[in-house]
Amino acid sequence: MPHPFFVHFPIALVVTALILEIWGRVKGREDLRRAATYNLLIAAIFALPSVISGFFGAEELLERLRERAAEDAIARAEAAVKLHRSLGLATLVAVGLLAYWRFKAGWNAKAQLPALLALTVLVLGTGLAGGGIREAMRPRGNGGPPLMMEEDQRNFAPQEEGSRRFEQESSPGER
Ligand code: HEM
Repeated sequence: MPHPFFVHFPIALVVTALILEIWGRVKGREDLRRAATYNLLIAAIFALPSVISGFFGAEELLERLRERAAEDAIARAEAAVKLHRSLGLATLVAVGLLAYWRFKAGWNAKAQLPALLALTVLVLGTGLAGGGIREAMRPRGNGGPPLMMEEDQRNFAPQEEGSRRFEQESSPGER
């Protein structure tokens, strides 16, 4: 299964856990806080295939890029993958520990809410960094194709100039 299939689960489940935790605290409802714990557990389960599929996806993506893309695009993609990989691994560890902690220590420990908040920021940051991988492969400036192959880079020009050139090239008879 591809990486994008798995990643939405840990992200959505951690955010839902935070919402349920806050709601449960405000209303004094244990059932909601218990539901938050199960959300976290399922998030931890899905974080594992997210990370495994991420490693395979990264290898494939970088291999394809190294064959066909310009060097600066490869360098930017590698840096973006590295950042995302570190955040992804940190997410896996953090969500696993927090789920374990909630089951073992119960959900009344005071530090649970700040820990859950920090985990939410981490998992959202991981997702943003993941989306940033494709972005890092775009040519500098606006627009341009997502994979910066050498021929794309040669043809690429800033937005306005690029669209002028496109218009000229697509109607050569008018010149
Ligand atoms: C819980 C951990 C992780 C989460 C929540 C996560 C989340 C994401 C998200 C939201 C995207 C953007 C998907 C899209 O644009 O459709 C993404 C892309 C990506 N992730 Fe992860 N990720 C995780 C772990 C990892 C790890 C450990 C790696 C290993 C290097 C990795 C490699 C990648 C790659 C290569 C992409 C780009 C895929 C593409 O655009 O084709 N991810 N990730």
